[in-house]
Amino acid sequence: MTRLAIEHDAVNLAQGFPDFGAPEEIKRAAQEAIAADLNQYAITWGAKPFRDAIAAKYRKWYGIDYDPEREITVCCGATEGMIATLLAVTNPGDEVIICEPYYENYGPDALLCDAQLKFVQLRPPDWTFDPDELRRAFSAKTKAIILNSPNNPTGKVFTRAELELIAGLCQEFDALAITDEIYEHILYDGASHVPIATLPGMRERTVLVNSMSKTYSVTGWRVGFVLAAEDLTDSIRKVHDFLTVGAAAPLQQAGVAALNLPDSYYEKLSLEYQKRRDLLLHLLEQAGFRCYRPSGAYYIMTDISGFGFVNDVSFVRHMIESAGVAAVPGSSFFSDSNAGATLIRFCFCKKYETLEEAGSRLREFRVTL
Ligand SMILES: Cc1ncc(COP(=O)(O)O)c(C=O)c1O
Repeated sequence: MTRLAIEHDAVNLAQGFPDFGAPEEIKRAAQEAIAADLNQYAITWGAKPFRDAIAAKYRKWYGIDYDPEREITVCCGATEGMIATLLAVTNPGDEVIICEPYYENYGPDALLCDAQLKFVQLRPPDWTFDPDELRRAFSAKTKAIILNSPNNPTGKVFTRAELELIAGLCQEFDALAITDEIYEHILYDGASHVPIATLPGMRERTVLVNSMSKTYSVTGWRVGFVLAAEDLTDSIRKVHDFLTVGAAAPLQQAGVAALNLPDSYYEKLSLEYQKRRDLLLHLLEQAGFRCYRPSGAYYIMTDISGFGFVNDVSFVRHMIESAGVAAVPGSSFFSDSNAGATLIRFCFCKKYETLEEAGSRLREFRVTL
């Protein structure tokens, strides 16, 4: 969709990357690290100052201790963190549960590991799951559940009660929770983020994947990290070493500056995104879209059934070509493409003027539909 957007000079509300600058302090820290010749390989599992900063962050924010020497692995984005984890912990034939709709990388990740995916539906408007359906997905073959909260594409933030239910099933079926917490600081309307690792009995069976990409608006830096108990980390580090050796050394140094930003940085991040969310919700509704209001992350799922198109892909193609606005067809987030045929996802990690421009193009588009 991004390629098609470029071809048609469309406003790209498809791929989730900010079109505004990263914080000055961390850009400066990266420049200084390069100037100071921090340009060679870091230790494969991550530069010590960065691992120390990650451990301090988790202690401060969530009151949970991870040993930087044995339980933290720095990798090339959450993307590598997730595949390295799955390669490390699954054997061919193991089952991995995913809530659907899901961030599209998890599907190919599981395929690369020869793991079998089991899907549990998140149902609109609140994107809640049916506890019985979740229980039925667990079996003796279940190795792990992948949990992404705040969630891409739905904007759902899992509640403590939902997480407790999932935690109970993980313990009953001796399964791991592999969590993608990349949007942990992007929360709205008072929602709060609970890492499942902080729930009783879960620290030892959780692999927590996170990244600098979204919190610091540096999706191109490719710096992420994985937190897990020592035995799991030991395997994850081996896979990581052979996959990528390590993440960019000077950017890990800049990561120390990022993790030391004051609390006000995170408050502003959520507030700014909430304003962008409210603006895009308003613009989309004006243009006739039925929107599901997100509680976290920076995407809005919309229902396009009212527009009368055959499916999501033909709608998005038409929208790019005729309106000059790109979004992602909902079917990209489902194992069965028919399931997402009435949904499309817009992202709002964009300048206000970018969102306004998309809004005015979509209003005209509605008139000409
Ligand atoms: C849920 C989720 N996980 C992971 C990623 C990719 O993370 P990274 O840039 O750290 O590889 C994205 C990017 O959009 C995402 O939405």
